[in-house]
Amino acid sequence: MTAPVVVADKLTRHYEVKRGLFAAPGIVKAVSETSFTLEPGKTLAIVGESGCGKSTLARVITMIEEPTSGSFSIGGVTAGPDTQAQLRTDVQIVFQDPYGSLNPRQRIGSILEEPLKINRPKMSAAERTAKAREMLALVGLRPEHFDRYPHMFSGGQRQRIAVARALMLEPKVLVLDEPVSALDLSIQSQILNLLVDLQERMGLAYLFISHDLSVVKHMADDIIVMYLGRPVEMGPKDLVFAHPRHPYTKALLSATPVADPKGARQRIKLEGELPSPLNVPPGCAFAPRCWKAEARCRAERPELEGAPQSAACFFPEG
Ligand SMILES: Nc1ncnc2c1ncn2[C@@H]1O[C@H](COP(=O)(O)OP(=O)(O)OP(=O)(O)O)[C@@H](O)[C@H]1O
Ligand SMILES: [Mg+2]
Repeated sequence: MTAPVVVADKLTRHYEVKRGLFAAPGIVKAVSETSFTLEPGKTLAIVGESGCGKSTLARVITMIEEPTSGSFSIGGVTAGPDTQAQLRTDVQIVFQDPYGSLNPRQRIGSILEEPLKINRPKMSAAERTAKAREMLALVGLRPEHFDRYPHMFSGGQRQRIAVARALMLEPKVLVLDEPVSALDLSIQSQILNLLVDLQERMGLAYLFISHDLSVVKHMADDIIVMYLGRPVEMGPKDLVFAHPRHPYTKALLSATPVADPKGARQRIKLEGELPSPLNVPPGCAFAPRCWKAEARCRAERPELEGAPQSAACFFPEG
């Protein structure tokens, strides 16, 4: 087994929010005590409903935000104020929206050279340009695109540019936050194939965030299922898709036809609303919506247990 490139240990990110002039501030528990490892060349997917903390985790791992508690390391170096400058270039992010993420006034060449200008001060202008042109080709764009502006490109092409920019500093880890969700279905698979190709060439590790389980099925090696800021199930994709152990995973997969080509699985309809992360239920947060929940589930929080496929449930499947 290769050494992991990312090790996250009980990462937690909570937000204090005002609730009115006289009320005590509330705490949004966006991510709580989330631990995982990611190996070079592998893809770890994070799935779960809107608001379960996927993007918050992405912002913490890419050092856009600090964790409230817990820690993580990249390439064996623990993230913190002293190592931030060093690690910033090792982990890069691609966002969902290829329209909002590129400066409309900058030509593509200059967008690609910018990370080098900032982080590789000793590099000559000619070297920078050569590297940017090389990257442009690597993501499947043409040489003449170098001098064009973002508005001259389609959504899929813009996402190629965003990927190219993220790779300019040769990061070890790429965080992809819903990288194809804003694209037409026909374009999605082209971008996904590009990502697979780049991963193989460059030995990249992907933290791949998506709510689309058919995309995850295609991309992931391992998968984390999050519910209200905590992982409820984690393990190799094939195992989790074939035999979900947590009732929430089972419900999530049952709603996705692709997870079950034979159509044998019955669709499980979850009762009740998704609670707010401002008000996480005690015990197992999923208990209020779970058809298997007993008194213990509402009183005590189950830990993730089992290897290689773990589930945080007192009454897991099979
Ligand atoms: N800066 C903030 N202040 C307060 N609450 C926040 C902040 N950022 C995120 N949250 C809350 O934290 C929770 C998790 O948000 P996050 O964006 O991580 O979810 P997500 O899983 O990425 O959802 P989606 O699938 O919709 O992108 C949400 O309830 C969100 O409202
Ligand atoms: Mg998000």
